[in-house]
Amino acid sequence: MPRLLKFNIFRYNPQDPGSKPHMDSFVLEETDSMTLFIALNRIREEQDPSLQFDFCCRAGICGSCGMVVNGRPGLACHTKTVDLPGDVTLLPLPVFRLVGDLSVDTGAWFREMYNKVESWIHTSKSFDQSAVEERMDNEVAEQIYELDRCVECGCCVAACGTARLRDDFLGAVALNRIARFAVDPRDERTDRDYYEIIGNDRGIFGCMGLLACEDVCPKNLPLQNQLGFLRRKMGITAIKTLFRR
Ligand code: SF4
Ligand code: SF4
Ligand code: FES
Repeated sequence: MPRLLKFNIFRYNPQDPGSKPHMDSFVLEETDSMTLFIALNRIREEQDPSLQFDFCCRAGICGSCGMVVNGRPGLACHTKTVDLPGDVTLLPLPVFRLVGDLSVDTGAWFREMYNKVESWIHTSKSFDQSAVEERMDNEVAEQIYELDRCVECGCCVAACGTARLRDDFLGAVALNRIARFAVDPRDERTDRDYYEIIGNDRGIFGCMGLLACEDVCPKNLPLQNQLGFLRRKMGITAIKTLFRR
């Protein structure tokens, strides 16, 4: 006998003055290989076409289907119902602006964060399109590639105690971004330049180090290593700055 799954879903439309935050329940018969993504689409098609949630790729690539599943941020398309109990509570990711129901605006948050950390290669070299491409050491290229795998789902931000307490905390995803440029030989920024951005409570020194971010990252990014790497680097830069004064 297939299980009957009960979905308790947060509902609220901030655009509608008559809408009030509440939970709605939907019951579905579980099918083979059902994911939360499939379940939500069935609910929308068969029971309530007004249910809002985001998705695009269904393959853990676009990062748009992040939500809180029984208290834990994760991707709906990556979450199999067989791994969940019969009662499933779904909430939108906190920290981000709510669009409606389970849909949040991660795009605006990420754009702002990228501007704050100046998420681009800083170089004084001008681009010469006729020049032969410069080679990069394989090991370094792989290191950069590893850190570039982030799909901007926002799960690490939603799971972060500091980000939930402080609006201005950059979060593990931004610190990972800085770590990515710090290892890139094309970026001419110095440790002192990075210190200006993250050597404070909004950055690496605001991180409590409990690593909820790494626990929930659906791409298994090595956030713990990057936070440790930056903490050491910025700690040394702070001491050097102190003695230079
Ligand atoms: S380790 Fe730092 S960035 Fe990660 S969840 Fe904890 S406070 Fe947030
Ligand atoms: S670091 Fe991981 S959890 Fe955070 S936004 Fe990127 S993919 Fe998502
Ligand atoms: S739909 Fe793209 S990551 Fe889930």
